Amino acid sequence: MHVRGVYLSVEITGPPDGPAVVLLHAFPLSKQMWALTVPALAGAGWRTVTLDFRGFGLSEAPPGPYGMAALAEDVVAVLDQLEIARAVLGGLSMGGYVLFEVLRQASDVVRAALFCDTRADPDTPAGRDGRHRAVAQVQSGRAGREEYLAGLLAKLLGATTLADRPAVVAAVQRIVATTPDAGLVGALLGMAGRADHTATLGVLRAQKIPALFLAGEEDGITGVEVARAMGAAVPGATVVALPRAGHLTALEVPDAFNAAVLEFLGRLPPER
Ligand code: MLT
Repeated sequence: MHVRGVYLSVEITGPPDGPAVVLLHAFPLSKQMWALTVPALAGAGWRTVTLDFRGFGLSEAPPGPYGMAALAEDVVAVLDQLEIARAVLGGLSMGGYVLFEVLRQASDVVRAALFCDTRADPDTPAGRDGRHRAVAQVQSGRAGREEYLAGLLAKLLGATTLADRPAVVAAVQRIVATTPDAGLVGALLGMAGRADHTATLGVLRAQKIPALFLAGEEDGITGVEVARAMGAAVPGATVVALPRAGHLTALEVPDAFNAAVLEFLGRLPPER
């Protein structure tokens, strides 16, 4: 699909007349990371939309930086083109950063929000420095890129997955390997410059948008405490901690992830 001057790869699964749920992927993955989520949601009657952000998966990779606000504009444009006026939006990690921007730009489209392994606050100065070092490493050539991605993978996955789930490790490696350098660099710079969305939690409060905050108990990047703190700022929010999972909960513990999401979706008030 062409939106805002770029080609974006979008997949729609499930009944065409079902309620819509849109899933936004993590960095540096692609919509492939939802491969175990989509069948569960579609099978439960949800029209499930996944997309590759610009620079990832099968989407075009124009030069960056890819600000989170621009990625959110892409998402809103995709929904517009699909004639989806309102949907449940879910984002994991970077996908969550983008979801906060969608809430800020176009909260009317958000029927409910799933924030998975993500955070509302921006990078610390040290975090920003780390992103710039990563950009330099990727731009230094193949060996630098490989070294950066190997280090990142060890942080993305939980201890249980690293020790006991070689197939998951291999799947994540395969997905990450498809991300072009332009995508890595564009999103690293975009994430480094992202806004503080602590106040955006107030949009959920003010508009009574149902929200789920979910994290893996072995997530060393965002983590359960971060999810609990965001949940505490939104009365009525659901907070879920998933055991034996790191940052990529949807892939590491797909059954528990799907059960938590479907339980939340099943409790949503009827669409207005
Ligand atoms: C992600 O999983 O999307 C990244 O870990 C987010 C980040 O680097 O802040």
